[in-house]
Amino acid sequence: MTVLIAGCGDLGTEAGLRYAAAGHRVVGWRRSPGRLPEQLEGRAVDLTGTLPEVPADTDTVVIATAAGERTEAAYRAAYVSATANLLDALERDGVSPRRILFVSSTAVYGDFGGGPVDEHSPAEPGTPTGRILREAERLLLERSPAALVLRLSGIYGPGRTRLIDSVSSGRAVLPAEPQWTNRIHRDDAAAAIVHLTTAVEAPAPVYLGTDEEPSDLADVLRFLAAELRLPAPPAGPTSTTRGGDKRCSSALLRSTGFGFTYPTYREGYRAVLAGEGVRHP
Ligand SMILES: NC(=O)c1ccc[n+]([C@@H]2O[C@H](COP(=O)([O-])OP(=O)(O)OC[C@H]3O[C@@H](n4cnc5c(N)ncnc54)[C@H](OP(=O)(O)O)[C@@H]3O)[C@@H](O)[C@H]2O)c1
Repeated sequence: MTVLIAGCGDLGTEAGLRYAAAGHRVVGWRRSPGRLPEQLEGRAVDLTGTLPEVPADTDTVVIATAAGERTEAAYRAAYVSATANLLDALERDGVSPRRILFVSSTAVYGDFGGGPVDEHSPAEPGTPTGRILREAERLLLERSPAALVLRLSGIYGPGRTRLIDSVSSGRAVLPAEPQWTNRIHRDDAAAAIVHLTTAVEAPAPVYLGTDEEPSDLADVLRFLAAELRLPAPPAGPTSTTRGGDKRCSSALLRSTGFGFTYPTYREGYRAVLAGEGVRHP
């Protein structure tokens, strides 16, 4: 049985290594496959171009591309065109995977004024890039009965240290008003991809992938400063949260038996600060 990872970057590679460790053949498609680990069969593929033959025994497809830049054209290419093109290739080759999981983002939810968000909340993106992600989700869900969407909140993990760097460099500012943020450690995101595609018999069409504790940005910054043995950052003017102010719930994911290795930012950032894991290039 083959797992095809379309857009095999940091998250796709980590998921791929987990499928490989479970005994699956894993094929990773990306434009520059040279640095993929040996457990994965890399192949140079531009998902917006002519696609090679899909392995006939492909059981699972994971679409984990990312747009290289925050423009509508780059988002459309990486998410909508790549997904449509991949579905065309599956049809062309007569391959019907059991599961096709699209890695999406909680950016498809607009601003909820700090309110709760789950899979039943209206996905009405407040940004053009969020609307393009939503379009790619719809396209997949409408075209394939095997479709599954995993909406991840902010990914942090090995090498993904934007917030840590802002504290250690002294640039961080504690917002005066509460600012809810949602995040997931990369390894939990990868584990959720494998879990939903291999261990859940009748998955729902959409899951939120976010840890167990939406957190006020100021609490996270204070925690990081304490871990780094630095003074708490100074208070400053409130900036808007990029993902929109909301508290995302992963109760549905957890109801399928999924357990987080890093249930909150505290365990996750401690592991990152201890240098655990590597970012896949
Ligand atoms: N960053 C966050 O906080 C966050 C939050 C929520 C969701 N997500 C989602 O998480 C997913 C994966 O993120 P990541 O961190 O693993 O990103 P990443 O490391 O940048 O990996 C994305 C991969 O997609 C490949 N790719 C892009 N365009 C392609 C194309 N036209 N053809 C073939 N491959 C292509 C890139 O490889 P090549 O350049 O070699 O082609 C890259 O390796 C994305 O879907 C992103 O939207 C991220």
